[in-house]
Amino acid sequence: MSQQNLESLDVEAIREEFPILEREFDGQQVVYLDNAATTQTPDVVVDAMSDYYRESNANVHRGIHHLSQAASIAYEEAHDRVADFIGADGRKEVIFTKNTTESENLVAYSWGLNELGPGDRVVLTEMEHHASLVTWQQVAHRAGADVEYIRVDDTGRLDMNHARELIDDDTAIVSAVHVSNTLGTVNPVTELTELAHEHDALSFIDGAQAVPNRPVDVGEIDADFYAFSGHKMAGPTGIGVLYGKQAVLEELEPYLYGGGMIRKVTFEDSTWGELPWKFEPGTPPIAEAVGLHAAVDWLEEIGMDRIEAHEQELAAYAYDRLTAEGDVEIYGPEGGPDRGGLVSFNLEGVHSHDLASIMNDHTVAVRAGDHCTQPLHDKLGVPASTRASFYVYNTREEVDKLVAALEDARTLFA
Ligand code: ALA
Repeated sequence: MSQQNLESLDVEAIREEFPILEREFDGQQVVYLDNAATTQTPDVVVDAMSDYYRESNANVHRGIHHLSQAASIAYEEAHDRVADFIGADGRKEVIFTKNTTESENLVAYSWGLNELGPGDRVVLTEMEHHASLVTWQQVAHRAGADVEYIRVDDTGRLDMNHARELIDDDTAIVSAVHVSNTLGTVNPVTELTELAHEHDALSFIDGAQAVPNRPVDVGEIDADFYAFSGHKMAGPTGIGVLYGKQAVLEELEPYLYGGGMIRKVTFEDSTWGELPWKFEPGTPPIAEAVGLHAAVDWLEEIGMDRIEAHEQELAAYAYDRLTAEGDVEIYGPEGGPDRGGLVSFNLEGVHSHDLASIMNDHTVAVRAGDHCTQPLHDKLGVPASTRASFYVYNTREEVDKLVAALEDARTLFA
């Protein structure tokens, strides 16, 4: 990526929209590098949500009074906005859930428990987040289906020859992460989806670390399902998205039952309403949908391609600076277009929790642990790692502070 990409983004102006980035602890300004866990929220999103509560708060789909109509329109329009953002064919293909994990569970329970059985194969990757891995593993166990994992090679990429071996006519679904939250690898999800479809299997893509950081077009990927979360893309917590192809969703049984999702209920039985409401029973996350709508507007105004370029440049800079002394191991591809904006690493002889604690002394916020990818860490031969993950408001100076904190750890543990 060229320096021009960084310059073309007015990061200082963007930072002004995030008062939290001014926050100090012990006289030091916070350096927030835990964006893969959750991103910060710009004023425009916070304002949209508080305006909603101040001016339009009511329940949706139920009232004929003005406020309920205003809330319903705002809620429905949030679906339209998200559909447009990811290239879906309208609101019927966009279900609001609590988060990516719930989106995974929705499909695993609605489709998996009903359709999977002995002899069926569920194909995952070794770099799945627990949201996908645990969900499909457990539902497959209950259904008596097999689970296979596409190998991660020594460079941190998927072994696509192994994928071609595993995805066969017994395969019922392929579920893969788009961008690894640990390795930063950007996976060939269109190719995986093609492989699944060649064998009449479904494809589910976990886009939690992709939609916030790069342009994503679900039509191009052609996956049957695609999931992501609001709080990793400058939006609020408490809302996630499940995209599904309309034809596939029409065939699915609901995962949760209740009010708001029905057509007709008698004492004996019930029938279901239209998409997407059929999958959204109970009072949904209305203010959060308003916030997500505002976040999508905000991201698109900056431009997803520029956000991607900015993060890749920061990750490449961090990669070079962290590895300069030769005592830091970074997991995942060395660089290039198939590496996203995060670096997980270990400093020789220092546990990641100790390292994160020293970083915190410098008010550098990173994540330490297994990042919800325990089997992948087992494969890497380490119990845990430290992860710095970047977003649109981060700067090279903040990477320099990360490196200074690392230097301190070197001195302390020398
Ligand atoms: N899945 C989130 C992460 O990777 C929580 O940090």
